[in-house]
Amino acid sequence: MALVRIGDQVHGIDDICSHAEVSLSEGEVDLEECALECWKHGSLFDLRTGEALTLPAVRPVAVHAVTVEGDDVLVELSGGRSR
Ligand code: FES
Repeated sequence: MALVRIGDQVHGIDDICSHAEVSLSEGEVDLEECALECWKHGSLFDLRTGEALTLPAVRPVAVHAVTVEGDDVLVELSGGRSR
């Protein structure tokens, strides 16, 4: 999973690009689009929805709700919360 902080918001997105098996956390954050750019071929993934905003990726990547409580970052996976 990649965690991206933009201002007060922390976004959780699966770390593997839907186009090929590379790590999205090595890509750059596009602050204006609130998106993460895959370093390999440049697809942008919306950090709020996981939608692939640009080609060559066409499939979304899962996103997870993130809350910050004090020093803890809580990520809500499909089955529950994880620290
Ligand atoms: S591997 Fe991510 S866009 Fe191709």
